[in-house]
Amino acid sequence: MQALVVERLTGDLSGAGLADVAEPQRGAGEVKVRVRAASLNFPDLLMTRGEYQFKPEVPFTSGLEFAGEVLEADPESGFAPGDRVMGGNKTGAFAEIACVPAGKLSTMPAGLDFPAAAAMGAAYSTAFTGLVELGGLQEGQWVLVHGASGGVGLAACDLARALGARVIATTGSPAKAEAIAALTHPEAVIVAEGRFREEVSRLTGGALADIVFDPVGGDVFDESTRCVAFGGKLLVVGFTSGRIADVSTNIPLIKGFSIVGLRAGEYARRFPERGTAITRAIARLAEAGAITPAIDRTFPLSRWREGFEAMARRELVGKVVFVPGA
Ligand SMILES: NC(=O)c1ccc[n+]([C@@H]2O[C@H](COP(=O)([O-])OP(=O)(O)OC[C@H]3O[C@@H](n4cnc5c(N)ncnc54)[C@H](OP(=O)(O)O)[C@@H]3O)[C@@H](O)[C@H]2O)c1
Repeated sequence: MQALVVERLTGDLSGAGLADVAEPQRGAGEVKVRVRAASLNFPDLLMTRGEYQFKPEVPFTSGLEFAGEVLEADPESGFAPGDRVMGGNKTGAFAEIACVPAGKLSTMPAGLDFPAAAAMGAAYSTAFTGLVELGGLQEGQWVLVHGASGGVGLAACDLARALGARVIATTGSPAKAEAIAALTHPEAVIVAEGRFREEVSRLTGGALADIVFDPVGGDVFDESTRCVAFGGKLLVVGFTSGRIADVSTNIPLIKGFSIVGLRAGEYARRFPERGTAITRAIARLAEAGAITPAIDRTFPLSRWREGFEAMARRELVGKVVFVPGA
């Protein structure tokens, strides 16, 4: 079968390539799935460079998440051949066939096609875990979402609005503002460069944000410490800016807010019943049409490089989806 294999860790994707590899063998407790669509996440890009916190040994098949049809499963897994499932296990999704533990899969929400299901999983579970589980999001609250054109950022905007929050989306790329607004209908889209506290204060009538969702870090994080309401939460989601911020701890003390680290996957591993509840809540919202993942581009897996490069060049508004075997 064809798979995207990372042979060497490099900064320019030169160590990765499409290869003919043996089909993975299903291990104990695993489900074998024909991958119909797989979506690209920022950690996939980081893993080709060896820059992600999870560092698989080379060679490895790239790809965090997919949607597809079950080919083989143990009866006690709860899955049967033909079931439409979504999920992933950190690597292995950018291939025609994947084998993953049954607990890493869920049934696709009704009404979603394979590309939408592949694009939904990681982004929306990250957004839900951050905003609802850790952030305690309430209807009517102000939510400030950074990196709003990204997979995780767009999901956070879409989910927050579906749950009745008032969303201010930010982007570092002014040209993307219109597309972000059209996809998620926030109260406002602002350009997060330099100072943006005054704009957040003006938009919220001086209240500031109850929750800040920050996948960008660096200067955006620093300025965000001035945008959180008393009693609010600043969620540390990622560092796409490339800089991990330092914070003077007198700031959260004086301003009375919390800085909360988010690890959505680890949260679901440590609290499996909450993980299941999150998956079900997202599926219900998707089935009701309240949330819809945004796909920017779809490529056959043979054109994987175009997707990775578009992400590295920060061109995307939404997800890249790869279709294996196309
Ligand atoms: N904590 C968790 O549990 C968890 C789970 C999943 C992902 N993440 C993290 O969340 C982050 C976003 O992931 P994603 O898959 O949504 O990535 P993505 O689709 O590439 O989106 C990232 C966004 O970050 C913004 N950005 C700001 N500075 C950037 C820079 N120098 N280079 C590239 N992008 C930059 C861009 O938005 P604008 O152009 O609009 O500014 C970009 O669209 C990553 O750091 C990832 O590791 C965390």
